[in-house]
Amino acid sequence: MTAQHPSLVGIDIRAEIERLRREKNVVILAHYYQKPELQDLADFVGDSLELSRKAAETDAEVIAFCGVKFMAEVAKILSPEKTVILPDMNAGCSLEDACPPARFKAFREAHPDHIALTYINCSTEVKALSDIIVTSSSAETILQQIPKDQKIIFGPDRHLGGYLSRKFNREMLLWPGVCIVHEAFSETELLKLKAQHPGAPIAAHPECPPTIVDHADYVGSTSGILNYAKAMTGDTLIVATEPHIIHQMQLAMPDKTFIGAPGGDGNCNCNICPYMALNTLEKLYISLRDLSPRIEIEEGLRLKAKHSLDRMLEMASGSVGKGDLGAK
Ligand code: 13P
Ligand code: SF4
Repeated sequence: MTAQHPSLVGIDIRAEIERLRREKNVVILAHYYQKPELQDLADFVGDSLELSRKAAETDAEVIAFCGVKFMAEVAKILSPEKTVILPDMNAGCSLEDACPPARFKAFREAHPDHIALTYINCSTEVKALSDIIVTSSSAETILQQIPKDQKIIFGPDRHLGGYLSRKFNREMLLWPGVCIVHEAFSETELLKLKAQHPGAPIAAHPECPPTIVDHADYVGSTSGILNYAKAMTGDTLIVATEPHIIHQMQLAMPDKTFIGAPGGDGNCNCNICPYMALNTLEKLYISLRDLSPRIEIEEGLRLKAKHSLDRMLEMASGSVGKGDLGAK
């Protein structure tokens, strides 16, 4: 492939990525929401929990993280001796933006009898202020290990928190953050799609609002949705999460049909995560060449954040990592 950017003209980007990954002992980790070309060259593609585990276990000297910044930060927190690079440092997350550490700290201080059970989609500072981190694939297992009378603050995703709260009949104080991608799915458009494909089940991510989740036959993390697609007996699935995951579904199940639920009025690209989309092959090449942009975290902060992440890894150990919040 020949690059379009003027400074990269004439460079065979794919060949250079292959050379650099071998020479520099790199592991490339990619989230399911990455562009297909990045998923295809990754050593491992997974959900947030699986990628955290891979980052903690790897022998590679460099972790190239094709995902968003909080994910690359988790890799650095768990593997501080590794060089962790992110192709585009602007790859943020609306949930992280919705939860400024100073406000979260004040909220915690106002509720001293509550523990903070916090979704991994947050800053390192918020992780350091939390007791236990969860991903969508580990949240259920972890919540069930917390005594019933323990009061809980759940942030920053109010939809995941609300879903857990309803499913387990457990009151929690919910931080008012949302994922801008999952928030944009439209119930009207989903029902139109359902009418066009009667009999096709709907799988939804728990970051979706109740108007979407309530129509779903399965609710779970990205890897949970992938596993549901593999196990289902029918040949068509409506997928209410970021549509780049459909790439892995089509690779694993070329004979099945996967239809991405549309965002907004059906005429926008708002079901695509704009942060995840910032990573490209060209930027991955440059980050491997320069070992930059690089994630750096101050050691005291890292150790505080590691504490809540370690608790997640311990408490999630019985849970899959295969992404199950379970059937509704
Ligand atoms: P999971 O892959 O853990 O389901 O998370 C989805 C997500 O929103 C990542 O940003
Ligand atoms: Fe954040 Fe939503 Fe994008 Fe995931 S899909 S990174 S939760 S904005």
